[in-house]
Amino acid sequence: MTDLPESAPDASIETLFVTRVYRAAVGDEALVAELADCCRLAASDDGAGRAWSRKHGYPGYTSYASLDDLPWRFPAVKALVRHLDRHAKAFARDLAWDLAGRKLELDSIWINVLEPGGFHSGHIHPHSVISGTYYVAVPDGAGAIRFEDPRLPLMMAAPARKAKADRPLLPHVSVAPEPGTLLLWESWLRHEVPLNRAETERVSISFNYAWR
Ligand SMILES: [Fe+2]
Repeated sequence: MTDLPESAPDASIETLFVTRVYRAAVGDEALVAELADCCRLAASDDGAGRAWSRKHGYPGYTSYASLDDLPWRFPAVKALVRHLDRHAKAFARDLAWDLAGRKLELDSIWINVLEPGGFHSGHIHPHSVISGTYYVAVPDGAGAIRFEDPRLPLMMAAPARKAKADRPLLPHVSVAPEPGTLLLWESWLRHEVPLNRAETERVSISFNYAWR
Protein backbone atom coordinates (compact mmCIF):
# COMPACT_ATOMS: atom_id res chain seq x y z
CA MET A 1 0.00 0.00 0.00
CA THR A 2 1.22 3.51 -0.70
CA ASP A 3 -0.16 6.68 0.84
CA LEU A 4 -1.75 9.27 -1.42
CA PRO A 5 -0.60 12.88 -1.44
CA GLU A 6 -2.29 15.67 0.59
CA SER A 7 -5.33 15.82 -1.72
CA ALA A 8 -6.61 12.51 -0.29
CA PRO A 9 -4.80 11.96 3.01
CA ASP A 10 -7.11 9.14 4.15
CA ALA A 11 -6.75 6.98 1.06
CA SER A 12 -4.23 4.35 0.16
CA ILE A 13 -3.45 2.59 -3.10
CA GLU A 14 -2.51 -1.02 -3.63
CA THR A 15 -0.40 -2.15 -6.57
CA LEU A 16 -1.79 -5.29 -8.23
CA PHE A 17 -0.86 -7.52 -11.18
CA VAL A 18 2.78 -6.62 -11.30
CA THR A 19 5.06 -7.49 -14.22
CA ARG A 20 8.52 -8.62 -13.24
CA VAL A 21 11.68 -8.09 -15.29
CA TYR A 22 14.74 -9.81 -13.82
CA ARG A 23 18.23 -8.40 -14.27
CA ALA A 24 21.60 -9.80 -13.26
CA ALA A 25 25.25 -9.26 -14.11
CA VAL A 26 26.46 -12.66 -15.26
CA GLY A 27 29.92 -13.99 -15.98
CA ASP A 28 33.15 -12.05 -16.24
CA GLU A 29 34.97 -10.23 -19.03
CA ALA A 30 36.58 -13.46 -20.17
CA LEU A 31 33.21 -15.18 -20.64
CA VAL A 32 31.80 -12.17 -22.50
CA ALA A 33 34.88 -12.13 -24.78
CA GLU A 34 34.62 -15.86 -25.43
CA LEU A 35 30.94 -15.58 -26.23
CA ALA A 36 31.66 -12.68 -28.58
CA ASP A 37 34.07 -14.95 -30.47
CA CYS A 38 31.46 -17.74 -30.61
CA CYS A 39 28.81 -15.38 -31.96
CA ARG A 40 31.12 -13.96 -34.64
CA LEU A 41 32.31 -17.44 -35.60
CA ALA A 42 28.75 -18.68 -35.97
CA ALA A 43 27.85 -15.59 -37.99
CA SER A 44 30.69 -16.25 -40.41
CA ASP A 45 30.42 -20.07 -40.62
CA ASP A 46 26.69 -20.68 -40.51
CA GLY A 47 25.70 -20.23 -44.15
CA ALA A 48 22.21 -21.63 -43.56
CA GLY A 49 21.64 -19.06 -40.81
CA ARG A 50 22.90 -16.23 -42.98
CA ALA A 51 20.62 -17.36 -45.82
CA TRP A 52 17.64 -17.60 -43.43
CA SER A 53 18.38 -14.14 -42.04
CA ARG A 54 18.55 -12.70 -45.57
CA LYS A 55 15.38 -14.43 -46.70
CA HIS A 56 13.40 -13.32 -43.65
CA GLY A 57 14.69 -9.76 -43.61
CA TYR A 58 16.62 -10.14 -40.35
CA PRO A 59 19.03 -7.19 -40.29
CA GLY A 60 22.26 -9.06 -39.59
CA TYR A 61 22.62 -12.68 -38.53
CA THR A 62 20.58 -14.93 -36.28
CA SER A 63 21.08 -18.64 -35.62
CA TYR A 64 17.41 -18.87 -34.58
CA ALA A 65 16.35 -21.19 -37.40
CA SER A 66 19.63 -22.90 -38.26
CA LEU A 67 21.55 -24.04 -35.15
CA ASP A 68 19.92 -25.96 -32.31
CA ASP A 69 23.09 -27.18 -30.64
CA LEU A 70 24.93 -24.04 -29.50
CA PRO A 71 25.80 -25.39 -26.01
CA TRP A 72 27.44 -28.45 -27.57
CA ARG A 73 29.16 -26.48 -30.28
CA PHE A 74 30.59 -23.82 -27.96
CA PRO A 75 31.82 -24.53 -24.39
CA ALA A 76 31.33 -20.85 -23.54
CA VAL A 77 27.63 -21.16 -24.38
CA LYS A 78 27.47 -24.26 -22.22
CA ALA A 79 28.98 -22.26 -19.37
CA LEU A 80 26.45 -19.51 -19.98
CA VAL A 81 23.58 -22.02 -19.86
CA ARG A 82 24.66 -23.11 -16.39
CA HIS A 83 24.24 -19.48 -15.27
CA LEU A 84 20.93 -19.19 -17.09
CA ASP A 85 19.50 -22.29 -15.40
CA ARG A 86 20.34 -20.89 -12.00
CA HIS A 87 18.83 -17.48 -12.74
CA ALA A 88 15.70 -18.94 -14.36
CA LYS A 89 15.13 -20.90 -11.15
CA ALA A 90 15.62 -17.77 -9.06
CA PHE A 91 13.16 -15.88 -11.25
CA ALA A 92 10.58 -18.66 -10.92
CA ARG A 93 10.92 -18.39 -7.14
CA ASP A 94 10.44 -14.62 -7.33
CA LEU A 95 7.32 -15.17 -9.44
CA ALA A 96 5.99 -17.53 -6.76
CA TRP A 97 5.40 -20.18 -9.39
CA ASP A 98 4.22 -23.58 -8.21
CA LEU A 99 6.05 -25.78 -10.70
CA ALA A 100 4.07 -28.80 -9.49
CA GLY A 101 6.96 -31.22 -9.78
CA ARG A 102 7.80 -30.19 -13.31
CA LYS A 103 10.92 -28.31 -14.32
CA LEU A 104 12.00 -25.26 -16.22
CA GLU A 105 13.94 -26.51 -19.21
CA LEU A 106 15.98 -24.54 -21.70
CA ASP A 107 13.98 -25.02 -24.88
CA SER A 108 15.95 -22.93 -27.36
CA ILE A 109 18.93 -20.61 -27.41
CA TRP A 110 20.16 -18.56 -30.33
CA ILE A 111 22.60 -15.84 -31.36
CA ASN A 112 21.61 -12.41 -32.64
CA VAL A 113 24.06 -10.13 -34.44
CA LEU A 114 22.07 -7.00 -35.18
CA GLU A 115 23.80 -4.77 -37.67
CA PRO A 116 23.83 -0.95 -37.51
CA GLY A 117 20.43 0.35 -38.65
CA GLY A 118 18.77 -2.93 -37.69
CA PHE A 119 15.84 -3.32 -35.31
CA HIS A 120 13.46 -6.05 -34.17
CA SER A 121 9.81 -5.01 -33.93
CA GLY A 122 7.44 -5.94 -31.08
CA HIS A 123 6.94 -9.65 -30.43
CA ILE A 124 6.35 -12.28 -27.77
CA HIS A 125 7.94 -15.74 -27.46
CA PRO A 126 5.18 -18.37 -27.80
CA HIS A 127 5.36 -21.92 -26.39
CA SER A 128 7.59 -20.96 -23.47
CA VAL A 129 7.27 -19.49 -19.98
CA ILE A 130 10.48 -17.55 -19.37
CA SER A 131 12.40 -15.78 -22.09
CA GLY A 132 15.46 -13.66 -21.91
CA THR A 133 18.57 -12.24 -23.44
CA TYR A 134 22.22 -12.19 -22.47
CA TYR A 135 24.10 -9.22 -23.87
CA VAL A 136 27.52 -9.74 -25.40
CA ALA A 137 28.22 -6.47 -27.25
CA VAL A 138 26.21 -3.32 -26.72
CA PRO A 139 28.00 -0.45 -28.47
CA ASP A 140 27.03 3.14 -27.61
CA GLY A 141 23.77 3.95 -29.38
CA ALA A 142 22.82 0.30 -29.86
CA GLY A 143 19.81 1.00 -27.74
CA ALA A 144 17.81 -0.54 -25.00
CA ILE A 145 15.19 -3.25 -25.09
CA ARG A 146 11.67 -1.86 -24.77
CA PHE A 147 8.90 -3.69 -22.92
CA GLU A 148 5.19 -2.99 -23.44
CA ASP A 149 2.47 -3.04 -20.80
CA PRO A 150 0.57 -6.25 -21.65
CA ARG A 151 -2.71 -4.49 -20.79
CA LEU A 152 -2.16 -1.79 -23.38
CA PRO A 153 -4.73 -3.18 -25.88
CA LEU A 154 -7.38 -2.98 -23.12
CA MET A 155 -6.82 0.71 -22.46
CA MET A 156 -8.63 2.03 -25.52
CA ALA A 157 -10.33 4.95 -23.74
CA ALA A 158 -7.77 5.65 -21.03
CA PRO A 159 -5.83 8.93 -21.09
CA ALA A 160 -2.16 8.63 -21.97
CA ARG A 161 0.23 8.57 -19.05
CA LYS A 162 2.31 11.66 -18.36
CA ALA A 163 5.84 11.32 -19.67
CA LYS A 164 7.16 11.82 -16.13
CA ALA A 165 4.91 9.16 -14.58
CA ASP A 166 6.59 6.73 -12.21
CA ARG A 167 8.32 3.93 -14.09
CA PRO A 168 5.85 1.18 -13.05
CA LEU A 169 3.03 3.27 -14.56
CA LEU A 170 4.63 3.80 -17.97
CA PRO A 171 3.10 1.92 -20.92
CA HIS A 172 6.53 1.31 -22.43
CA VAL A 173 9.70 0.83 -20.41
CA SER A 174 13.23 0.67 -21.78
CA VAL A 175 15.97 -1.29 -20.08
CA ALA A 176 19.52 -0.47 -21.15
CA PRO A 177 21.80 -3.51 -20.93
CA GLU A 178 25.58 -3.65 -20.95
CA PRO A 179 27.87 -6.53 -21.88
CA GLY A 180 27.32 -9.25 -19.29
CA THR A 181 23.75 -8.19 -18.49
CA LEU A 182 21.16 -10.93 -18.29
CA LEU A 183 17.48 -10.02 -18.57
CA LEU A 184 14.62 -12.44 -17.96
CA TRP A 185 10.90 -11.86 -18.39
CA GLU A 186 7.76 -13.92 -18.75
CA SER A 187 7.44 -15.05 -22.34
CA TRP A 188 4.09 -13.34 -22.95
CA LEU A 189 5.64 -9.91 -22.32
CA ARG A 190 5.83 -8.04 -25.60
CA HIS A 191 9.16 -6.39 -26.34
CA GLU A 192 11.09 -4.80 -29.15
CA VAL A 193 14.63 -3.81 -30.00
CA PRO A 194 14.74 -0.26 -31.33
CA LEU A 195 16.98 0.82 -34.19
CA ASN A 196 20.67 0.12 -33.65
CA ARG A 197 22.13 3.62 -34.03
CA ALA A 198 25.64 2.47 -33.20
CA GLU A 199 28.33 2.03 -35.80
CA THR A 200 28.96 -1.58 -34.90
CA GLU A 201 26.88 -4.67 -34.30
CA ARG A 202 24.80 -5.36 -31.22
CA VAL A 203 25.45 -8.95 -30.20
CA SER A 204 23.22 -10.94 -27.89
CA ILE A 205 22.13 -14.47 -27.07
CA SER A 206 18.41 -15.06 -26.56
CA PHE A 207 16.65 -18.10 -25.17
CA ASN A 208 13.37 -19.62 -24.02
CA TYR A 209 12.54 -21.83 -21.07
CA ALA A 210 9.61 -24.20 -21.21
CA TRP A 211 7.79 -25.81 -18.26
CA ARG A 212 8.03 -29.58 -18.59
FE1 LIG B 1 12.48 -11.40 -28.28
